[in-house]
Amino acid sequence: MASKEIRVDGDRLFLRPLTEDDLTDEYLGWVTDPETTTYLDVQHTSPTIESLKAYLATFDNAHTNFAFAIVVRDPTDGPGTHIGNITLRVNRVNRYGTEGILVSKAHQGKGYGTEARSLLYAFGFDELGLEKIVSGSAAANSASIASNERLGFVKEGHFAEHVLVGETRVDSVQLGLLKRNFRPYTP
Ligand SMILES: CC(C)(COP(=O)(O)OP(=O)(O)OC[C@H]1O[C@@H](n2cnc3c(N)ncnc32)[C@H](O)[C@@H]1OP(=O)(O)O)[C@@H](O)C(=O)NCCC(=O)NCCS
Repeated sequence: MASKEIRVDGDRLFLRPLTEDDLTDEYLGWVTDPETTTYLDVQHTSPTIESLKAYLATFDNAHTNFAFAIVVRDPTDGPGTHIGNITLRVNRVNRYGTEGILVSKAHQGKGYGTEARSLLYAFGFDELGLEKIVSGSAAANSASIASNERLGFVKEGHFAEHVLVGETRVDSVQLGLLKRNFRPYTP
């Protein structure tokens, strides 16, 4: 599957492959914003446009690792507004994918994160033949956990003092979604 062919359409959003053109100063602002990155490992790095390019190059967008831009559609079907990113790293042997997501602060709390996840998981199950999606999260990341639970995820594991948030080691949870339990989101 060539990356340019991939587009996952939803009611308000679509997903398309993230490209170098998306790696703007605005994007850099999202991944350096302390509030947005409270629970993300990127808080412990000092990202630059160059390091974002190197990160993007780790995705093939064709077979194993997918990085999508989350885009709010235009009423006129134009290019839309890029509001965040969502990734899926696929274990082909065991047919599961691991997801990661960031919705920029100005667009959080409107159901976009849940809709983008729902689109990604439908893509994983229907187009990639996955049987399961997993998602790790700091136990305190209520918005992320609520969003995934709404789609059918259940908590499968709890890890004590597993991730570093600021200077503090905090617990994390592993959530899993079996294909048969997927409840797609309708805004
Ligand atoms: C986590 C994230 C993807 C959620 O996306 P979103 O668009 O902001 O969230 P949604 O509007 O889809 O809401 C998701 C759920 O979280 C709840 N929620 C939203 N903000 C919340 C908050 N601050 N505290 C608790 N719950 C919250 C919503 O009520 C909703 O639950 P419901 O379906 O039971 O009503 C987004 O906030 C984000 O990118 N955060 C920064 C990066 C991050 O934490 N990524 C995930 C790493 S595991």
